[in-house]
Amino acid sequence: MTTPLAGRVALVTGSGRGIGREIALKLAAAGASVVVNDLDKDVAEQTAADIAAAGGKATACAGSVTDPGFAQRFVDTATDTYGGLHVVVNNAGYTWDTVVQKMTDEQWDDILDVHLKAPFRILRAAQPVISAAVKAERAAGVPRVTRKVVNISSVAGTAGNAGQINYSSAKAGVTGLTRTLAKEWGRYDVTVNCVAFGLIRTRLTEAPADGDASIDVDGRQIKVGVNPDLLARLETGIPLGRAGTPAEAAGAVYLFCQPESDYVSGQVVVCGGGFDG
Ligand SMILES: NC(=O)c1ccc[n+]([C@@H]2O[C@H](COP(=O)([O-])OP(=O)(O)OC[C@H]3O[C@@H](n4cnc5c(N)ncnc54)[C@H](O)[C@@H]3O)[C@@H](O)[C@H]2O)c1
Repeated sequence: MTTPLAGRVALVTGSGRGIGREIALKLAAAGASVVVNDLDKDVAEQTAADIAAAGGKATACAGSVTDPGFAQRFVDTATDTYGGLHVVVNNAGYTWDTVVQKMTDEQWDDILDVHLKAPFRILRAAQPVISAAVKAERAAGVPRVTRKVVNISSVAGTAGNAGQINYSSAKAGVTGLTRTLAKEWGRYDVTVNCVAFGLIRTRLTEAPADGDASIDVDGRQIKVGVNPDLLARLETGIPLGRAGTPAEAAGAVYLFCQPESDYVSGQVVVCGGGFDG
C-alpha cells in the first residue's frame, strides 16, 4: 500500500465507532499518525490499538468534544505526541430527535454544541499551530504542504429532515463554517471541505429506535437508532438501492484528505448513494 499521508498528523473526533473509526483506520493506513477521540475511552483506545496492530501510528485522546477544555487538549496531543497537525476531521456526534413542538432547549443546545460549537472550538484551537507551522515551513523553503479540514454534515443539514430541527440546523451550520473557513485559511494552504452523508449503517441509524441502543452523554441515556421499517423504506428511496457502509463513508472523507484534492476547497459533497435528501 502506498502511503501518501506519511509524515502527516490527523485529528479525528468520534473515531471509536462507526464512520469515524473507519476514517481513522483509513488515514492511518495511508501513513498518517492519528489522534483518536471518542466520548467513550474504551472504544477510542480500541481504535488506536487496532491501528497500531496493523502497523500504523495512533494515540487516544478520550473525552467529550463539548468540554470547554477539550479542543486545546486535542490539539496539544497532536503536537506533543507527533510534532505537528495536518488533517482535522470533525465527525463526532449523535442525534436527539423530536418534532419542533416537543423539542426542549436542552435538546437544541446539546445538539448544536456537539455538531457545530465543538468543531468551531477545535478549529479555533488549531489555528495558531497551523499558522506557526506554515510560517516556519515557508521560511525554511520546504515544499508546500496542503493541510486538510473535513467537516461532517448530513443530508438533514443540506435538505432538512422532519423530526430533526436541532440536528438539521446544526448540520446546516457546519456547511457555513466550512465555506467561511475555506476563505479564511486559503492563505495557510489549508483546504476546508464538508461531506454530508445520506444513510450510512452505523449505531446511529441501524439499531431499532424502540430498542436498547443509547448513548450516555453526561450521565443521560439518549436513544439512538432508526425503526427497522423506516430504515427499509428509506433504503428504497436511495438510487443505489441500499444504505452505505462506514468504510464507503470514510472513502468520501478520504477524497478530501489526499493530495489529489489539494486545489479543492469550500465544497460540500453529498455521500448518499445518489440520495441527496
Ligand atoms: N450514519 C448516518 O447515516 C449519518 C448520516 C449523516 C451524518 N452522519 C454523521 O456522521 C458522524 C458519525 O456518525 P456515525 O453514524 O458514525 O455514528 P456512531 O454513533 O456510530 O459514531 C459516532 C461516535 O461519536 C462519538 N461521540 C458522540 N458524541 C461525542 C462527543 N460529545 N465527544 C466525542 N465523541 C462523541 C460516539 O461515542 C460514537 O463512537 C456524525 O456527525 C453523524 O451526525 C451520520
